[in-house]
Amino acid sequence: MIKILLLSALFSHAAEAPSQFQKDAALFQAKCAKCHTVGRGDRVGPDLKGLSERREKAWIIGFITKTDQYLNDDPEAKKLLAKFNGVRMENTGMSEAQANALLGYIDAASKGPVGPEEEPEPAVEDPASKVRMPEEARGPWLPGVAAALLLLALAAAAWQFGFAVPAALVLALAAGAGYWSLGGRRYHRLLGDQQGFAPAQPIAYSHATHAGKLKIDCLYCHYGAARSDVAGVPPVSVCMNCHNAVRKSAGAAEPSAEIAKVVAAWETRLSSAPRAIEWTRIHDLPDFVHFSHRSHVSNDIRCQECHGPVQDMARVRQASSLSMGWCVNCHRQQKAVAPSHWKRTGGPLDCAACHW
Ligand code: HEC
Ligand code: HEC
Ligand code: HEC
Ligand code: HEC
Ligand code: HEC
Ligand code: HEC
Repeated sequence: MIKILLLSALFSHAAEAPSQFQKDAALFQAKCAKCHTVGRGDRVGPDLKGLSERREKAWIIGFITKTDQYLNDDPEAKKLLAKFNGVRMENTGMSEAQANALLGYIDAASKGPVGPEEEPEPAVEDPASKVRMPEEARGPWLPGVAAALLLLALAAAAWQFGFAVPAALVLALAAGAGYWSLGGRRYHRLLGDQQGFAPAQPIAYSHATHAGKLKIDCLYCHYGAARSDVAGVPPVSVCMNCHNAVRKSAGAAEPSAEIAKVVAAWETRLSSAPRAIEWTRIHDLPDFVHFSHRSHVSNDIRCQECHGPVQDMARVRQASSLSMGWCVNCHRQQKAVAPSHWKRTGGPLDCAACHW
């Protein structure tokens, strides 16, 4: 019940007044996007990119507003129906004005992003807003220490007045508060809270070196991100494209022991027991959530908007909470839209878009 209340609060939050383009885009999202894309390939129905170049306007408007009739009688529509294995586009109940608006959106989106093409500056790690892992908690947490001292005084008082059992209980509380605030909190976190998670990896691979200093493109290694649901971690063969030759860190006299581990894993490839590097997974949504990298990355959302400034991280840290509120907030465009990417619209808010 509480969850439902929270959810409706989340969804009723007023957004800024959207532009006409955003309104049309939202209509497309709500009525058409589950079956069509503009420029990202066929889904249930055809990719609508360049629609106006292949069809007469009157035909398009007719097809959208009187879908059933067209699929029954119009020869072109029947051809299309056969091509899409007899899957019928549903009657979407669009008026002629709405169909015109949708066509306007499709035409605009077909042209791709306009405006300055240069890359926005990559996000830079701001030490003040840096997500802290519990392991990074340093020094005593003063409110906790104060509480522990207070409890200690209370325990002493209870003991003084002869209440031995309550005194022992309060003493235990004081000890717990003391442990927590003097450093114990480094070793514990709340269940399911993974923000800031940054486990040590079997090889001290550094994004700061590869993506930062060497400026290797994220997609060179995580090529899955542009093509599929999962970004994927590269196989050793990708590392060996360079590490066949590179065996030392810059300026080092000795070959790097960490690179040697990469080579060692590679050399098992022809043996009877080939061994992949067992990277520890960091980002992990629950199974009941559907997330696709492709639909985000192909919509010009930069990796850093979700993963933080990975190119500055010597060890990857989960920068975002990956909570439902985080997804939904961005889908409602609470965040500023990158100026060069006006094509970006909001994402779906429909429960079924993420839970299926
Ligand atoms: C349930 C899935 C579905 C929905 C929702 C849907 N379509 Fe379609 N659409 C199709 C399919 C499938 C086809 C191919 C014809 C067929 O098999 O019915 C198609 C064909 C089309 C075509 C012809 C494309 C071409 O290449 O000539 C247009 C235009 C179109 N849809 C526009 C829309 C618009 C606009 C909306 C939203 C109002 C929409 N569709 C919603 C499934 C859908
Ligand atoms: C040279 C290859 C390479 C490049 C380039 C690279 N990565 Fe990675 N990435 C890896 C490897 C290997 C791992 C697994 C080890 C680790 O977590 O550090 C990884 C892990 C990650 C993870 C965490 C995966 C998880 O388990 O949740 C994210 C997020 C990530 N990379 C994002 C990026 C981004 C963003 C860029 C570009 C700025 C980038 N990577 C560039 C190789 C690469
Ligand atoms: C495009 C070339 C390239 C690729 C691909 C590449 N590396 Fe590197 N790597 C380098 C270079 C160059 C250095 C030395 C850089 C330096 O020290 O400034 C290096 C250094 C390293 C180091 C030494 C530690 C450090 O950060 O200096 C490790 C470990 C390492 N790489 C692991 C990997 C792994 C694992 C992969 C595959 C996921 C990989 N590399 C892919 C070029 C590459
Ligand atoms: C819209 C937010 C978003 C963007 C943009 C994004 N990611 Fe992710 N990434 C996620 C989420 C959420 C997960 C966890 C997915 C899961 O558990 O199914 C994830 C997981 C990963 C993983 C580990 C799991 C996997 O899917 O293999 C890697 C590696 C990764 N992302 C790299 C990248 C790279 C590289 C880019 C840019 C090309 C990128 N991501 C862009 C949100 C994003
Ligand atoms: C940085 C902003 C941002 C974040 C964070 C984000 N999204 Fe999205 N998402 C978008 C945008 C923009 C689109 C619309 C893309 C398009 O036009 O198809 C989208 C589209 C989608 C779609 C529909 C795309 C498709 O496959 O057709 C799903 C599903 C989705 N997001 C799920 C998620 C989930 C789950 C999360 C959280 C784990 C998430 N998103 C986080 C911006 C975001
Ligand atoms: C943009 C993607 C997205 C949309 C839309 C979305 N969800 Fe979620 N939902 C998520 C993610 C991601 C999680 C996992 C969050 C976590 O584990 O903290 C989640 C978790 C949940 C949970 C489990 C919460 C928990 O703490 O276990 C429920 C229940 C839920 N969603 C219901 C809904 C309902 C109802 C709607 C429609 C009003 C909806 N969701 C729409 C992404 C989405």
